[in-house]
Amino acid sequence: MAKKLTCKSWAEPFKVKVVEPIKMTTKTYREKAAKEAGYNTFLLKSEDVYIDLLTDSGTNAMSDYQWAGMMLGDEAYAGSRNFYNLWDNIKKYYGFPYFVPTHQGRAAEHLISKILIKPGDYIPGNMYFTTTRQHQELAGGTFVDVIIDEANEPQNTHPFKGNVDLNKLDKLVKEVGAKKIPYISLAAPVNMAGGQPVSMANIIELESYAKKHGIKLWLDATRAVENAYFIKQREKGYEDKTIAQILKEMCSHFDGIWVSAKKDLLVNIGGFLATRNKHVYEEARNMVVVYEGLHTYGGLAGRDMEAMARGIEEMTNYDYIRSRIGQIEYFGKKLMEYNIPIVQPIGGHAVFLDAKRFLPHLKQIEFPAQTLAIEVYMDSGVRAMERGIVSAGRNKVTGEHNYPKLELVRFTLPRRVYTQAHIDVTFESIVSVYENRKKIKGLKMVYEPKYLRFFQARFDRL
Ligand code: F0G
Repeated sequence: MAKKLTCKSWAEPFKVKVVEPIKMTTKTYREKAAKEAGYNTFLLKSEDVYIDLLTDSGTNAMSDYQWAGMMLGDEAYAGSRNFYNLWDNIKKYYGFPYFVPTHQGRAAEHLISKILIKPGDYIPGNMYFTTTRQHQELAGGTFVDVIIDEANEPQNTHPFKGNVDLNKLDKLVKEVGAKKIPYISLAAPVNMAGGQPVSMANIIELESYAKKHGIKLWLDATRAVENAYFIKQREKGYEDKTIAQILKEMCSHFDGIWVSAKKDLLVNIGGFLATRNKHVYEEARNMVVVYEGLHTYGGLAGRDMEAMARGIEEMTNYDYIRSRIGQIEYFGKKLMEYNIPIVQPIGGHAVFLDAKRFLPHLKQIEFPAQTLAIEVYMDSGVRAMERGIVSAGRNKVTGEHNYPKLELVRFTLPRRVYTQAHIDVTFESIVSVYENRKKIKGLKMVYEPKYLRFFQARFDRL
C-alpha cells in the first residue's frame, strides 16, 4: 500500500544563486589533519572540513538584498548612513531607543560587564555562556546559575528548559542581598543547554521579581528570534502573533540587550548593545570609543552595518525561521529514529549529542564530547564542537576543572547554507561512529590556555 502523507515540508523560501566548492578528503588525510590540530576541531583548517557545523556564528549565507546593501556602505569615520539605517531597524524590531554597535557579541558583553559589575558582585543567569561568564568574571563578578533543574536532564522534554527557577534566584538574593546583584543575565534561548527557549511567562515573572528588588534585567538576545519562534509554537496565546511581535514583546520586559549579530541577523560579523537606560547608553557610547571605535561604527565597516540592518528585516520572516528550525528538527528526528542519544527537545540552532550516553565507557576527564567531535570529523569530515568539560573551564577560586552535568557535542546549522543531503551525510556519519562506539578511546589534554580554553587546547589520544 502506498505511504500516506503525514506532514508538510519545511522547505526553504529561497534558492541558491552562488556556490562555494568544498574539498572532499580521505579518512587517512583527516586522521593526519586531526592529529595536527591537537584533536581540537577549533584548530582544524577550514579547508580540511567537508561540512562545517562547528558554529552558526558568522557562518550564515547573506541574501542578494544584503549583498546589494554592502555596495551602499558609507565608510565615513563618523556618522555613516548605514549606522542610522541600523539604528532605525533596532528601534523598530527590538524596541530600544538607544544603541551602540560593536564588532561582535563579546565586545558588547565586555562593555555591559564593565559598566554594571563591581568587584564582589553576583550575576545570576540561566546557565553560563563561555564568553558572557568570562567577561562577568573579568569585571570582578561571580556568575550564579539559576536555571531550572530540567535544563540539566538531556532526556527531559520540558518545552521551556531555558526558564529561570525563581526559588533559586530568590535564595541568592536572600543570601547576598539585592545590592550585590547588578542585573539578571538572561539568555533566550540557552545555547549551552541545547538551544532551549525561555517562555514569555517566565520573562514576565522575572521582570516583576527584578522590579520588586531593584535589580536590572538584561537579555542576551543573540538568538532571540529562535526563542520567539518556540514561543509561537509552544506557548498559549502566542499562536497568532507574528515573530516580529513576539520579539518586540520579549524585549519590552528588559532594561537592555546585548547581541552577537553573527547569528539571528544573518551576517558574518557584528554585534551591538541596545537599551532604554540613558545612563547605561551614555557610558557604553563613551567606552566603545576606547575599545572598539567611534560610537557610529564600533569596530564595523559601514557595509557590515548595512548588512545587519537588512538582516534584521529578513530574520523575522516566518517562512524563513520555520525552515531554519525545520531543518534542525529533521536532523534530530533522524538521529532519534536510530536511538542516538541527543538533547531533547531539539533546539533552535543545533542538535546536541549526549556524549555521556553515547560513550558511557569514558570518564568525564577523558573528554567524551571532545573525543566524539573529533571521531565524527575523522569519519566524514563533518566538524562539530565540544560543549562539555573543556568548555566549562576551571573554577576561578579553586582552579579545579568544572564538571558540568551536560557533556555535549553540538552540530550547529549555519543559516541558509547547507542542504538536506548535507544533513543526511552528517546523520549517516554519526550513526556509523555510534555503531563502532565501543572501540573509541578518550583523550588527554596536553596544552591548556588560560582563558576560554576550548578554543585553543590541544589533546593526545589515550
Ligand atoms: N552570547 C551567546 C548566546 C553566544 O552564543 C555567543 C557566541 C556570544 C554571546 C558571543 O558572541 O561570538 O559574536 O562574540 N557564540 C558562538 C557559538 C561563538 O558558537 O555559539 P560573539
